[in-house]
Amino acid sequence: METAFQERSPIGQTRYQHFEARPVTGTFGAWITGIQVADALANDELFKELCDAWLKYQVLFFRDQELSPEQHLQLGGRFGEIQQLGYVGSLEGHDGVWVQEYPAMYEGPVSDINWHADSSFRSKPTRGSLLYALDVPDGAGATVWADQCAAYDDLTPAWRTFLAGLSCIHDNLTRNPYRVFDQLGGKALTDMRKFLPPTEHPVVCEHPESRRRFLFVSELMAREIVGMSRNESRAVLDFLFAHQTRPEYQARLHWAPKTLALWDNYSTLHRGIFDFGQSHRLMHRVSFNSDWITDA
Ligand SMILES: [Fe+2]
Repeated sequence: METAFQERSPIGQTRYQHFEARPVTGTFGAWITGIQVADALANDELFKELCDAWLKYQVLFFRDQELSPEQHLQLGGRFGEIQQLGYVGSLEGHDGVWVQEYPAMYEGPVSDINWHADSSFRSKPTRGSLLYALDVPDGAGATVWADQCAAYDDLTPAWRTFLAGLSCIHDNLTRNPYRVFDQLGGKALTDMRKFLPPTEHPVVCEHPESRRRFLFVSELMAREIVGMSRNESRAVLDFLFAHQTRPEYQARLHWAPKTLALWDNYSTLHRGIFDFGQSHRLMHRVSFNSDWITDA
């Protein structure tokens, strides 16, 4: 049986009043040209159009953006409630602007190497993020996103029916428990587990704004399907991990200094490409929350 995969029309470009959105794949992701995003701080119409484009394309990319840490924070605050605590520290004097700097981050207990949605192990996962590049290795250190609405849409009715009503345990120790244990150990690890316990989410969720359904599991965080044996759970998750990250659902961003990405952290997954050895890569990130979604 064929799926919608062969029938769907490409998402195409959109001409907004303030800018143009040029798609980077057939289903999601767009380059936004002709604006400085910081101008949306004082321009409600521009901000509204950015929200419209974000909802449609899920991931937006911008080149040559002038964005101070203060503006970065203010912009995040327009989208939602700024997430103060992260897995890296904030810029001095700017709580909520997380400093992601390599190679130092290779030493940390958490990595971005596997596919994931940020903080999916929280009861209220991150709604979205604004990631801003300051220094990037030439041609290397890309980030890839995967469209989980398209991945769900392409499932056959048999799989959609099967997944409906299933839920999954998200655990931030799923992929690297020994590394975390070795680095934190004992009381620090116990405290972290109390602060960030594993959380259950539906495998298929409904987006609060677009109302589209999407897959909400990922190889970095998804530990097990609730109510299944280990082997059953492994089989289901292995299929989903392979399906949800097919090249057809991927959009890759090659960074340059002053490139900005805004992504929907509910309906897309992402991962870093760590092909730059010990080269310097410095990003500022602002993440924000909003109300979480309901079961599909
Ligand atoms: Fe991430």
